[in-house]
Formats: sequence, C-alpha cells, structure tokens
Amino acid sequence: MTKKTKHTSGCICACKKEKSIKNIPYVAVITGASSGIGREFARQIAAAYPSLDEIWILARRLPALRELEAELSGKKVRILSLDLTEASALEALEELLKKERPCIRILVNSAGCGKSGPVESQNWRDAARMLDVNCRALTAVTMICLPYLRRGSRIIQAVSGSAFLPQPGFAVYAAGKSYVLSFDQALAAELRDKKITVTSVCPGPVDTEFFAAGGITLNPWKKIFLAKPEKVVKKALFDAEAKKELSIYGCSIPIVRLAEKLLPRKLLLGIMRRIFL
Ligand SMILES: NC(=O)c1ccc[n+]([C@@H]2O[C@H](COP(=O)([O-])OP(=O)(O)OC[C@H]3O[C@@H](n4cnc5c(N)ncnc54)[C@H](OP(=O)(O)O)[C@@H]3O)[C@@H](O)[C@H]2O)c1
Repeated sequence: MTKKTKHTSGCICACKKEKSIKNIPYVAVITGASSGIGREFARQIAAAYPSLDEIWILARRLPALRELEAELSGKKVRILSLDLTEASALEALEELLKKERPCIRILVNSAGCGKSGPVESQNWRDAARMLDVNCRALTAVTMICLPYLRRGSRIIQAVSGSAFLPQPGFAVYAAGKSYVLSFDQALAAELRDKKITVTSVCPGPVDTEFFAAGGITLNPWKKIFLAKPEKVVKKALFDAEAKKELSIYGCSIPIVRLAEKLLPRKLLLGIMRRIFL
C-alpha cells in the first residue's frame, strides 16, 4: 500500500473521523493466518491500516498464530485456533461475533489446501476434506461475517488461477476454486449497493507451505512462475482498495486466460493433460 490513499466516507482504512462516530471496534478477520498468503495478509494489513483496532487471526496451529501475534506487536491480535472443517468452529466464530459486535473492515479468507493427482488415484476423503476447507468453510465464514461488514468493507478471497480452467491432475481443487470465483462474483453483485467489495485473488503458483502440506511435487512448468507471497498480497490489497473484483499477480494466469480465448477448450485440456499429468 505504497500509493497515497484518498480517505472517503466508508473507506477501508477506518479513518479516525469515521470511527469516532460509530464507536465500535474496527477489525480485520484473516483465516489461514498461520502460514503463506494468509500470514502475509496479516503482516501487510497490520502495517497498512494502523487505525484498525484488532486483527483476528484464524488457523489450526496455535504456535504459528502465537508467533505471528508476537511479530505484530503493538497491534491488538485475537487468536482463533479453529479447524474450519468442524461445525463447532464455525459456530464459535459466529458466537464471538455476536458477543463482540465489531465492524469488520477487511475479511480475508485464505484458509485452504490442495491435493493433486488423477482423480482415480485420490482418496475421496482427502478430496472431500479439501472441498470442506476451500469451499464450504469459505462460504460459511463469509456468511457468518457478512452482518458485521459495513459500507467500504472489503472481502478478499484467496481463490487461484486454476479457477479459470479445468485442470487435469488437479481436477477437484480447480473445480472447487471455480465455485469460489462464481460465488465471489455473484456476491460482489449482490453487495454493490451496500458498497462492500469482493476481490478474488487468483495467482498462479505461490511459494508457500501449500505444496508441502498437500504432498504435491511442484511441476517444473509451475516452478518457473512461482511468485513470492509478499508480492501477491501487496497487489491484492492494492486491488481491493481499488475495488477490483479480480487480482491477478504475474504473467502465468493472463497467458492461460488468453490461451483459453484463442484455443478450443478440448485442445487446451489435451495440452494441459500432457503438461500436468
Ligand atoms: N500457494 C499457491 O500456489 C496458491 C496459489 C493460488 C491460490 N492459493 C490459495 O491460497 C490460499 C492460501 O494458501 P497458501 O499458499 O498460503 O497455503 P499454506 O501456506 O499451506 O496456508 C494454508 C493456510 O490454511 C490454513 N488451513 C488449512 N486447513 C485448515 C482448516 N481445516 N481450518 C483452518 N485453517 C486451515 C492453514 O493453517 P493450519 O494448518 O494452521 O490450520 C494455513 O494457515 C489457499 O486457499 C490456496 O488454495 C495458493
């Protein structure tokens, strides 16, 4: 957020003037904050929006969340060590919001995981669990937080470039991300009059724990385009501030999207099958 921000009524930074009128805590809620893209969002949001009262960081790994809390010293941090595949975790978040009644200026849904390989070689439980985190939990967290978003609030969703095209070798993951992109775009249309924006972050491969956590060996093609989470997040926050619905860092995904426009889908999927399977 290096560019100068123009402060307007309902702007994302929760300017002091607006806060004093409402007298309620202004918070950012960030899922997937224990590593990778989510952790980077927490760092950059803490630095870029000093007038936020609290940053709520959510993931399963408590030690990693504590480390992040220590790093964000000077900022009030609320640690939510929850497994989003469990209904009780979603209910706990809902209850906490009912009790605290904050204004959520920024919601970042970055909790996610990936499993790759041909569908027939995958364990259905792993695939279902992946959809639970990437789709079901993201939808639930968004809906639970919605009543606490106000004019000027931002929703930022970690989607993926794989949302744009079916991906042999990553079929369930990519299909799940297409769901999220479709959900985001419809939600953005629904929230337009309320001046709440939804930004879908759709990078290519990003250098995080994501691949190791999913037991994924990174394809050499993807290695070429591996992006730094710092840059992906910096662009995402800039795009969210600019009210953009899509945030795409790097050149790999624009190439894929151009190829999709130029080539018949069957041919493109045949090429991808050769590259990724
Ligand atoms: N890395 C990439 O190449 C890439 C590219 C495009 C999009 N994305 C998307 O970006 C998002 C973040 O990925 P990342 O690269 O930052 O991966 P990451 O470093 O593995 O981080 C994933 C985060 O999700 C949390 N998480 C996973 N399962 C959870 C659960 N059941 N309950 C609560 N939290 C859970 C993890 O925390 P705990 O383990 O502590 O629970 C961790 O904080 C994902 O949605 C991913 O699909 C990633």
